[in-house]
Amino acid sequence: MTANSAFVRATRGDDVPHVPVWFMRQAGRSLPEYRSLREGLSMLDTCQRPELIVEITMQPVRRYGVDAAILYSDIMVPLMAVGVDLDIVPNVGPVIASPVKTLADLAPLRPLEASDVPYVTSAVRDLVTVLGKTPLVGFAGAPFTLASYLVEGGPSKDHAATKALMHGSPDLWHALLSRLAVISAAFLRVQIEAGVSAVQLFDSWSGTLAPSDYQEFVAPHTRAVFTALADLDVPRIHFGVGTGELLGLMAGTGPDVMGVDWRVPLHEASRRVGGRPVQGNLDPAILLAPWPVVEEQARRVLASGRRGSGHIFNLGHGVLPQTDPDQLARLTEYVHNWKP
Ligand code: CP3
Repeated sequence: MTANSAFVRATRGDDVPHVPVWFMRQAGRSLPEYRSLREGLSMLDTCQRPELIVEITMQPVRRYGVDAAILYSDIMVPLMAVGVDLDIVPNVGPVIASPVKTLADLAPLRPLEASDVPYVTSAVRDLVTVLGKTPLVGFAGAPFTLASYLVEGGPSKDHAATKALMHGSPDLWHALLSRLAVISAAFLRVQIEAGVSAVQLFDSWSGTLAPSDYQEFVAPHTRAVFTALADLDVPRIHFGVGTGELLGLMAGTGPDVMGVDWRVPLHEASRRVGGRPVQGNLDPAILLAPWPVVEEQARRVLASGRRGSGHIFNLGHGVLPQTDPDQLARLTEYVHNWKP
C-alpha cells in the first residue's frame, strides 16, 4: 500500500510528485500533546505500551501531514528487552548499570527474539492499519552507537572509554559489536515482519571516529546488520552525525539511502555516496530562527538535494525539544509546495 508513496519512491531514486519530508524526533518533547501523555510515565515504560506507541507515533503525522511516520521507541529498547540493566534518564539519555569492561560483561547480550518485544510487533501492526498509505519507518541503533553507551555507561562527548576499549582490547571490541549486530538486525527484522515500509539504522556517534578506525572496527559490523536483512525487500537508510568524512565508507556497508547532517551540502554528500539517494539535512537549530530564515535555508537544502539522484527532506539531526511545532507545520507545507 505504501510502495507508491513519495517517500518509498524517493528511497529508490524514482520520480516523485513532491519532495517527501519527515523529521527525525518528530514525535517527542517538542509536542505539547506528547508531554501531557508522558506525564508520570518513564520513557522505557511508555515504549512497552502498544496503545501509547501508536498514539505518540501518530501525533506528528496528524499535526504536520509528513510523508512518513517513525515508530516511537528507542535504540536502547532491544538491549533492555534482552535483559541489559539500563534506564533512560530525562535530559541525560541512556544510562547503563554495569558498563562493559570484560568478556564476562557480554553475557546479557544474547540474540533478541520476536517474543522479547511483543509490544513492538503489536504497535507496528496497528500503526500500519491506521497509517494506510503513509509509510512507517522502523529503526535500530547501529553496533557502534549502541556499544558507545554500553562501554561509557551513558552519553559521552569524547567517547574516550569506547575508543580505549576498541584499540586496547580489539578481541573484546569485535565480540561486543558482533553481538550488537545480531541484536540490531533482529530488532529491525521484527519491525519489517510486522509491516514497516522502511528502516533507518542510526549510527549517531560514528562521526567521532577517524575513517581508518571506522573501516577496521565498525564497518564490518554495520555491514553484518544490512547483510542479515538482505532477504527482505525494504529500503534501508543509514545515518550518523558529523560523518562527512565517513559518508563513502558508511554507504559501503550496504544501505539504499544515506542520511546526512547539515555539515555537508547534499549534492556533495550525494557524490560521496556514489549517487545514492540522500536524506537531510536542515540544521535543526535553524528552526529556532524566524520563519523567513527557515524558508531560505530550506530552499537551499532543496536546491542542493535536487542535484543528486533522490532526496528525502529531513533535518540534519533530531528536532530540538524547544522547537515551535508551528515551524515544522509550515516547513512541511513549504517542502510539499516547492517546485524546482
Ligand atoms: O520521533 C522519532 O524520531 C522516534 C523516536 C526516537 C526516540 N529515540 C525517542 C526518544 C528515536 C528514533 C530514537 C533514537 C535514539 N535514541 C538515538 C538515535 C537518534 C539520534 O538522536 O541520534 C539515540 C542516540 C538515542 C538515545 C537517546 N534516547 C538519547 C540521546 C535520548 C535523549 C535524552 C534526553 O532526555 O535529552 C533518548 C531519550 C529519548 N528517546 C527521547 C525521545 C522522544 C526524549 C526523552 C523523553 O521523551 O522522555
